[in-house]
Amino acid sequence: MKYSRVLGTGSHLPSRVVTNADLEAIVDTNATWIRERTGIEQRHLVSEGETCCDLAEAAARKALEAAGIQASDLDLILVATTTPDQFFPSTACLLQQRLDVHGCPAFDLQAVCAGFVYAMDVADKFIRTGAAKHALVVGAETISRLLDWTDRGTCVLFGDGAGAVVLGAAEEPGIISTHLHADGAYKDLLQVPGGHGNGRPEAAFMEMKGNEVFRIAVTTLGRIVDETLEANNLSKSDIDWLIPHQANIRIIQATARKLDLPMERVVVTVAEHGNTSSASIPLAFDQAVRDGRIQRGQTLLMEAFGGGFTWGSVLIRY
Ligand code: COA
Repeated sequence: MKYSRVLGTGSHLPSRVVTNADLEAIVDTNATWIRERTGIEQRHLVSEGETCCDLAEAAARKALEAAGIQASDLDLILVATTTPDQFFPSTACLLQQRLDVHGCPAFDLQAVCAGFVYAMDVADKFIRTGAAKHALVVGAETISRLLDWTDRGTCVLFGDGAGAVVLGAAEEPGIISTHLHADGAYKDLLQVPGGHGNGRPEAAFMEMKGNEVFRIAVTTLGRIVDETLEANNLSKSDIDWLIPHQANIRIIQATARKLDLPMERVVVTVAEHGNTSSASIPLAFDQAVRDGRIQRGQTLLMEAFGGGFTWGSVLIRY
């Protein structure tokens, strides 16, 4: 039986930092409210001309270097994104060209904030079936471009960035299990309603019923944690690190409580990054790998929840 394991990680943030105080100047909000209700202190935002593929490429190159392989060794490129540079070709194909890779499958995967865990699941299955030996999995977003900067209920919450992981085939896990779910019944609670497909390109901005999303996110993430532990016959104390999607510190704290995990064992980047959608987990993962918190052999639980709704987990022996 083949498994996939993490060979290397990388991440990249745009250089422009926007603090909560900066937002006070453009929308009716205040820095204290944002910090107290979300845990966010600042976010990185792309500048004019900077694209999702720019962020993805920088993160991918660092992950390849950390993995110690060449881009030409890749036989799968997956980009989880809701904010591709263009309708097509996919950001994965644009990235493939920048990396000077030719011929291997490359495609985008759209599951909003759960996009990275979805992409890890897909890449893991490619590797387990022998269809790929080395997979590049990127979560990259310029989510700021989908925001209505007059809507204080959403625009203060998000940031831009990218994170990447190189997976390689191995005899032992690696990725122990993945669990994915979706329920389109909740499509109206968190959405970008417009697009060229429905003839409403002018409505391509995010709308969210924050309160309801919050409530459902907390209970759903609690369930996915239980499901993951039960499926693997693990107890809460077997988890060394929780690497959650970074939407709101209060949601993260609720999941940590559910796991009886002290916050010191949770990788938290929401204060510096805000919610970077599909990029948030690989950004947090890379940060904790590079600063030495996450060590080889430890058990990591990633979990995410996003528009759709989509949600899922990835359990890893790093
Ligand atoms: N600045 C200042 N005040 C704000 C504000 C802002 N940016 N946004 C909302 N408010 C106000 C509201 O207007 C409301 O005022 P009122 O009581 O006078 O009507 C008050 O703050 C409370 O609003 P409410 O929406 O109940 O706040 P909340 O505690 O639920 O926090 C969110 C709002 C959005 C931070 C929270 O609901 C949340 O994080 N939801 C989940 C979001 C999420 O995770 N989305 C992505 C999933 S991937």
